[in-house]
Amino acid sequence: MIPAVNGSVQTTGERVVVPAHGTTYDGDARVFAVLEDRLRRLPGFDAFRLTPSDDPAFLVARRVDDLVPGGYRLDVRADRIAIHSSDDEGLANALTTLYWRIREGGGDLAGETVVDAPEKPYRGFLLDCSRRFFDLDTVTGLIEQAALRKLNRFHWHLSDDQGYRIESTRFPALNEVGSWRTEMDGSRYGGFYTRDQIRDVIAFAAARGVEVIPELDLPGHVTAIIAAHPEVSCSGEPAEVVTMPGIHARILCAGKDDAIAFAKDLLDEVCEIFPSRVIHTGGDEAPKTEWEACPDCQRRLRDEGLSDFEQLQAWFTAQIIDHLAAKGRTAVCWNESLKSGTLDDRAIVQYWYEEPGAYADGAIGQDRRYIYSESKELYFDYSPAMLPLRHVLNSRPRTADGTEFAEDSVLGFEAALWSEQIYDRTRLEQLAFPRLLAVSERAWRGATDYDDFLTRCEREIQHLDSDGVAHYPLAESDLAGEPQRQAIVADWKPKIDLVRQFGQGAFVDAILGIVRERMEGEFGDDDIELTLQELKA
Ligand code: ACM
Ligand code: ZN
Repeated sequence: MIPAVNGSVQTTGERVVVPAHGTTYDGDARVFAVLEDRLRRLPGFDAFRLTPSDDPAFLVARRVDDLVPGGYRLDVRADRIAIHSSDDEGLANALTTLYWRIREGGGDLAGETVVDAPEKPYRGFLLDCSRRFFDLDTVTGLIEQAALRKLNRFHWHLSDDQGYRIESTRFPALNEVGSWRTEMDGSRYGGFYTRDQIRDVIAFAAARGVEVIPELDLPGHVTAIIAAHPEVSCSGEPAEVVTMPGIHARILCAGKDDAIAFAKDLLDEVCEIFPSRVIHTGGDEAPKTEWEACPDCQRRLRDEGLSDFEQLQAWFTAQIIDHLAAKGRTAVCWNESLKSGTLDDRAIVQYWYEEPGAYADGAIGQDRRYIYSESKELYFDYSPAMLPLRHVLNSRPRTADGTEFAEDSVLGFEAALWSEQIYDRTRLEQLAFPRLLAVSERAWRGATDYDDFLTRCEREIQHLDSDGVAHYPLAESDLAGEPQRQAIVADWKPKIDLVRQFGQGAFVDAILGIVRERMEGEFGDDDIELTLQELKA
């Protein structure tokens, strides 16, 4: 089982039988239905049924208030299996442990008491459904595999330059126009999730102890929104939903009151659908060229006494933070939001990449709450050639200059599956596994021994295989030295050939820059130069 127990396991010497045809339970029906569903997929358990009963049931869930969120106590005894937790997530985690006990040992269990609790409250994974519109089976399949590893936050990236994916009843053009793009071959690509579909995903996740956190990326990465509503941009000029990846110039106008009101209306709609305590409001990669040229944005800057356009972004973000706070929600922002030096303390910051020199000393890593997603450790759109499994398990929150984050300031870890280059479910799963297991182990147990983790991974690989989940082989997940360097070439050469083939040769240098940056620190200069030569050839 990954993550392994972060607490204690005491065996009692009893033999405990979970009948293959089923048993009785007393507790939250939604969560026990998940256990039933999971067990019915195991050989020999296809007729397993759980029946509610308060006339001493065999599986009993009780609430206590002396356990941490997500933590649980599982008592496996001959006459009863009892679970104590302080919240729904703890119950889901306990039943997940029980499920693994049965899956790995059959219905004949050893009596034991397991006391287990997560090191970090936030154990997340991001799926980008803007660049790729994944079907619901793929989305829920990933949630289920993540939940089986006690990951508890699904960050659903639903809006970006390449498509708006939430059904909008207030602004139908967001779907009619903003959900569709024209691909390089001229075909139309896109779609959106209906409100009912989204609610089903939220319920599916909640029953597994996973909270769904939507992201509405603002004020940058909004070309799809502007394509539908050009009036919320600075110039009001028409736009088309974007096909190419990268950073795009069109951003939401921070000067026009109507544009701010529009952003708040959109957030209201998101809050209507998503009950999550936090809402991700983006804030990354927002180029300021349009704001600099916009009379409305210039006026806002003067009226609010702001010194530059980064401060205007902080002002814009503050409007959103206040708006969400009035609804009892907390904003999460990508770390660019810190550039102004004036980001509201209430916002949680997701740290992914620090531009050299963009932040004042000490601006990062101090009095604030962070989610750690550093791109060299947790961006799984980079294949294991560039981001080996051990880097994930050894992830150590620190800023670009090496300063460690205060332990308590880090709520947890999140892996990101950006999908510009993920075309199908198989590739998605390969990039997710086995590395998502390392996120889970790292966040649940804290820093742990890599060799021990690798040994336990071998069994998990068999579980992934029998669940029909694609993954990288363990050996290819953990390359180093020359084999790793060659894998980097094999990985990136086709990308370079592709951009050349589509007449986008200007991107080649950008790609080589990414490869160089990501090899630095891990490879010597000679190896880096050799790699770039081979890629250019
Ligand atoms: C990001 O990768 N732009 C958050
Ligand atoms: Zn403007």
